[in-house]
Amino acid sequence: MTTDPYTGGVDAPFSVPFVHRLRFTHDIFGADQQVLADLLECADGQPARVQFWADSNVVEAHPDLRTKVQQFCAQRSSHVERVGNLQVVPGGEEIKNEIHILERMLKIFNVSNLDRRSYVVVIGGGAVLDAVGFAVAIAHRGLRLVRLPTTTLSQDDSGIGVKNGVNLFHKKNWLGAFAAPWAVINDATLLATVSDRDFVSGFSEAVKVSLLKDPKLFAELCKNAKHIGQRDMAVALPVIRRSAELHLDHITQGGDPFEMLEARPLDYGHWSAHKLEAMSEFRLRHGEAVAMGVAIDTVYSSLAHDLPEAVADQVIQCLLDLGFGLQCPELQQTETLLDGLEEFRQHLGGRLTLTMLNHVGDPFDIHEVDRQHMCAAIDRVASLSKQAKENDGNCQTT
Ligand SMILES: NC(=O)c1ccc[n+]([C@@H]2O[C@H](COP(=O)([O-])OP(=O)(O)OC[C@H]3O[C@@H](n4cnc5c(N)ncnc54)[C@H](O)[C@@H]3O)[C@@H](O)[C@H]2O)c1
Ligand SMILES: [Zn+2]
Repeated sequence: MTTDPYTGGVDAPFSVPFVHRLRFTHDIFGADQQVLADLLECADGQPARVQFWADSNVVEAHPDLRTKVQQFCAQRSSHVERVGNLQVVPGGEEIKNEIHILERMLKIFNVSNLDRRSYVVVIGGGAVLDAVGFAVAIAHRGLRLVRLPTTTLSQDDSGIGVKNGVNLFHKKNWLGAFAAPWAVINDATLLATVSDRDFVSGFSEAVKVSLLKDPKLFAELCKNAKHIGQRDMAVALPVIRRSAELHLDHITQGGDPFEMLEARPLDYGHWSAHKLEAMSEFRLRHGEAVAMGVAIDTVYSSLAHDLPEAVADQVIQCLLDLGFGLQCPELQQTETLLDGLEEFRQHLGGRLTLTMLNHVGDPFDIHEVDRQHMCAAIDRVASLSKQAKENDGNCQTT
């Protein structure tokens, strides 16, 4: 028996309480501005120090944004101190691919003397939120981040998450950090200027989460897909809200917000999506690649597992009705695409774990992929979408 008072060890589990603040508004710099103001806490009787950052394309599409931000702060100067002018960063995947932009952001935080109680309010698409969010997560080991997502994808999925990061070594999100945002505000007005392509793009994540968790939402998406694709906000906004809530619920109640466990259901369809994005040199939007990835894993679920073929057809039809083409030349490069399986495994660590479907709302995990069935699934998605395009062309010419 040892009497050494030094050797040995202790396992001490601990948990940290987080609050995820998610708000939905219609005009955040107009009638609803108090929603933002209420989220910015004064510290020790001093006004909250707030720096605003925005996606260049959002600034271009909303020329009055700069003035609105200034007015917002000026009208409540005892409560909010605006730190510098609105900082504009390149919109789209470019910000995640240019590593030196990260250093520039950190330099601005430094010269602005931001500290852990300061707020960075970032207004932009998912790419800008990811990159600015990462800079915020590592500066002083974390400032307070308020996200104002401006695309459907960032409102119904990415903006709600706790992941921040940029691309490195030609790999998606290779450099990043888990960090919960201080708050997220989904504002309908900010969506008005997003391009049609980006508007549609975000709904692949809503289809994804509905297949995993909510058969009723999936039925709603199938029924209203064409209207959503035509930007009918009366049907699109409730879908965005429901999808955001499902993502929030998964993060806050799913028991694994920082993805320590094997199962990664929200990454359904993402092993191929991430690879397709990189293979296309980021010509494909994340949401477009996810639409193809969801289609591939759904068809695979029907070929290699128990998902009824009719359900797989319904999923593809829903994606096509939303306006996804589900086609790109990279789908023909099957071998390179399948390398995405190993890259996905490496990103997560441990053994390969993919989510597949038994039925809508009934996901399960697999650890091995039958390559023959996967190749067949990829071919089937490519040929079904080609067929749909031809049919569409015929309809238009007759
Ligand atoms: N962190 C996560 O959990 C998570 C989850 C899913 C996706 N993502 C990431 O999100 C990114 C994709 O985000 P996205 O689909 O929002 O695309 P995006 O950020 O690339 O935006 C698409 C384009 O629209 C522009 N834009 C954005 N909002 C606009 C507006 N209101 N008006 C006019 N133009 C506007 C952008 O500048 C860009 O050019 C990818 O990098 C993806 O990896 C992250
Ligand atoms: Zn995604």
